[in-house]
Amino acid sequence: MSNIQGKFPSTRLRRNRMREFSRRLIAENNLSSNDLILPLFVCEGNNVEDPILSMPGVNRYSINKLLKKVEDAVRLSIPAIAIFPQIDTELKNAEGSLAVDENNLVCRSIKSIKKEFSEIGIICDVALDPFTNHGHDGLVIDNKIDNDKTLEILEKQALVQVSAGCDVIAPSDMMDGRVGRIRKSLDNNNFQDTLILSYAAKYASGFYGPFRDAIGSGTNLGKDGKLTYQMDPSNSDEALREVAFDISEGADMVMVKPGMPYLDIISKIKSEFKVPTFAYQVSGEYSMIKDSINKGWLNEKVVLESLLSFKRAGANGILTYFALEMAEKLKK
Ligand code: PBG
Repeated sequence: MSNIQGKFPSTRLRRNRMREFSRRLIAENNLSSNDLILPLFVCEGNNVEDPILSMPGVNRYSINKLLKKVEDAVRLSIPAIAIFPQIDTELKNAEGSLAVDENNLVCRSIKSIKKEFSEIGIICDVALDPFTNHGHDGLVIDNKIDNDKTLEILEKQALVQVSAGCDVIAPSDMMDGRVGRIRKSLDNNNFQDTLILSYAAKYASGFYGPFRDAIGSGTNLGKDGKLTYQMDPSNSDEALREVAFDISEGADMVMVKPGMPYLDIISKIKSEFKVPTFAYQVSGEYSMIKDSINKGWLNEKVVLESLLSFKRAGANGILTYFALEMAEKLKK
């Protein structure tokens, strides 16, 4: 590599950067609306647009208002949305039983969206945390998160969501064996063509704080939080093992979460496995950036800069709360 790079002064790397046209020509990565997935929060009620205080500019919507946001996404050529429910506290219980109810808020949202917008991809989390009163992603038995009993419920949760019309099942709870289990049950029920996007490398992160405010899942997690199932932020080899497992169990796509603090993981996964890989720029990342822009501390150009970092790292796409405003800007 070194001998073909040239020498100063015959070679000047700044020459390519001197004019806008050549900067555009040499750009190694570009962001387009095809790269964006819009996460949306849904709540009960009618005409509700409920601001999430720790996520400036992001709201929870009742289904009728949610449809307007989906319409915006369709208009801006965003390929897919991801739905997250805020379940009323009195409907939550220790088992998260509402998760497997075919008329729950998630399933009703999917059906309403599919009726009006059949083309846009719908991605749904498969995990119990929105539905449990303790906020954990799995069943708590003897003060432990029981992996295998949780799998039985996840399998049913995936089936009700797919029956309602969900296109992509996104297991997000980091239980062992969930992808294989869900794949098998989808196949047995004639859903061979339903995609699985695995939250393969999901870290036990402080950056999920605002999301837990948004769906009300963060209050009773106990002293270890989610450390017995989500990954330790100090690990990276383990992320590769997780991804290898999920691919062997039938995942079509994998995700790394959070995003910007874990760009090294995206890059490693991409070069090791060459599979479709997604990044989740999570709630805390959004709020830091958005709040700083609102305060005038950062220029709004940092949004594009942050999203390009995922493309550079090798991500095929990004879940981001900036999806709508970014797609709007890219159109201009
Ligand atoms: C639930 C889930 C979480 C997020 C997506 N799905 C939070 C958690 O694990 O507590 C976080 C997304 C965000 O912070 O934007 N399993």
